[in-house]
Amino acid sequence: MARQDTYDLVEETSADWWEVEAMYDLCFAPGRTALSSYRLRDDVPPLAKLCFTARDKDGILAGCIRNWPVRVGGRLAILLGPVAVHPTRQGEGLGAILMRRALNRAHDLGWSRVMLVGDYPYYRKFGFFRLDGVVMPPPTNPDRVLGYDLSPGAWIGVTGQVTKAEDCNALWPGETLEGGSPKPHQTDRM
Ligand SMILES: CC(C)(COP(=O)(O)OP(=O)(O)OC[C@H]1O[C@@H](n2cnc3c(N)ncnc32)[C@H](O)[C@@H]1OP(=O)(O)O)[C@@H](O)C(=O)NCCC(=O)NCCS
Repeated sequence: MARQDTYDLVEETSADWWEVEAMYDLCFAPGRTALSSYRLRDDVPPLAKLCFTARDKDGILAGCIRNWPVRVGGRLAILLGPVAVHPTRQGEGLGAILMRRALNRAHDLGWSRVMLVGDYPYYRKFGFFRLDGVVMPPPTNPDRVLGYDLSPGAWIGVTGQVTKAEDCNALWPGETLEGGSPKPHQTDRM
């Protein structure tokens, strides 16, 4: 198993952007950007405080995770992912380390709920559950729409269409992934 100190986990910077894209190209099927979840990311900055790279001691990228804001029936949520681990490093626990880092940081920043589209058998071990009544843009298999509570009961009564959260100030006005330090995120304890 990968120990926490085997890799340096740090926030992604602009210098990492294309390397991370290449990692996603390697780990996902061709045409990944045609997935419906990407339509929710179009023209919306990622949550910079929740994007991490994991590099080994030689600086080689081993894994990465990005997260975006979305709205579900008007309520804010994190759309977790993509998360990827280089094929030669899979099965060592790095995916779990990246997931837990993102979930813990999201909690610390005041977020209430997380969702993703993925394999329940993998994500249930983190505490994800199937979401009823949360509707992704088509085509999405509803059985793959999963949720996670960062605060107790955060998904109770939260249903509806998943839409882009362009107004979320994920990076705050004037800030980009290229620089600056995003301010603490607005809370969504609604
Ligand atoms: C999914 C992924 C990030 C997991 O990273 P990882 O470092 O290998 O994960 P971990 O080492 O923490 O966990 C490995 C375990 O998860 C299981 N697992 C991995 N992907 C799985 C899936 N899609 N469904 C069910 N189980 C899965 C492995 O079989 C392994 O099980 P074991 O512990 O019983 O041997 C990595 O396999 C990957 O990059 N996959 C391609 C991209 C992808 O599908 N990303 C997720 C969708 S956003």
